Amino acid sequence: MSWVSDYKYTWTERLAMRTLRACGHIPHHVAFVMDGNRRFARSQQIDKIEGHSRGFAKLADCLRWCLDVGVREVTTFAFSIENFKRSSEEVEGLFNLAREKFARLLEETARLDEHGIRIRIIGNIELLPLDLQKLVASAMLSTERNGKLFLNVAFAYTSRDEITQAVETVLRHGCEDLAAEDISERLLEECLYTRHSPPPDLVFRTSGETRLSDFMMWQLSTSVLYFSNVLWPQITFWHFLASIVAYQRDRWQLEDFRRERRMESVQLAKTSGFYSERVQKFLAIIDEDRRKLLVRLAAN
Ligand code: FPP
Ligand code: MG
Repeated sequence: MSWVSDYKYTWTERLAMRTLRACGHIPHHVAFVMDGNRRFARSQQIDKIEGHSRGFAKLADCLRWCLDVGVREVTTFAFSIENFKRSSEEVEGLFNLAREKFARLLEETARLDEHGIRIRIIGNIELLPLDLQKLVASAMLSTERNGKLFLNVAFAYTSRDEITQAVETVLRHGCEDLAAEDISERLLEECLYTRHSPPPDLVFRTSGETRLSDFMMWQLSTSVLYFSNVLWPQITFWHFLASIVAYQRDRWQLEDFRRERRMESVQLAKTSGFYSERVQKFLAIIDEDRRKLLVRLAAN
């Protein structure tokens, strides 16, 4: 199964997609919390890893839908740090699935290049087994020249860990150069794994759970949240479309709040000296450091 599926639309789906594109605003960034794989597996009497594997197939469909509808950034919650607490059999099964998929990705970079897809793993990569670290780092490096659609795979991720890592980054790299007045919301935001992404416009969680489960808690304060009872491996194009319609309906309430937030954040950045040479130098160091880490992991 490829990362972008060859989904075949029915004519009604094509018509609905065209209408949606013509009539309303398409979210720039959509995040998926792919929940319900094991319940699906139980209901079908298949192994839970097969449930996760079917979940991956749906992710490939979703990517295709996003590309065709005009979504430009997708973030997907594939493995929470909390998932390390599951049975070793399931964790190993999920890692094997990831090994298979990232190895496949490296074989089909031409296909990703054709669609302009750039893969970024957001998460604490160093918590993963070494061979998987190498695979995900290689996947990121091999698609880094693309920029039409960004796919952020949250793997070994929780928000609390992301924020903790951000503080550590400030302390580790900023200690000598930054001043206390440089520390601002904006600066911390720049130290998150999502440093180069706008916040999601829409978050879609399946399986009837209405929690965030430590997913992008910093980034979601002005996003439309959409919950559906469908189990992730059963998601269809129509569920996806329904989430976009919900976004088109609800986004107005959030737009003003977003605008205010942006202004506040720029104001804050100005008074805290965010644009100072010190800060710019610090941010350049972070980027350089992150890339060095990827190159090192990919070479291991
Ligand atoms: C949540 O369902 C799903 C996961 C913990 C794993 C999701 C992973 C994939 C779909 C594969 C992605 C792989 C790559 C390489 C991107 P659950 O296990 O919590 O199911 P439940 O809620 O029914 O118990
Ligand atoms: Mg679950």
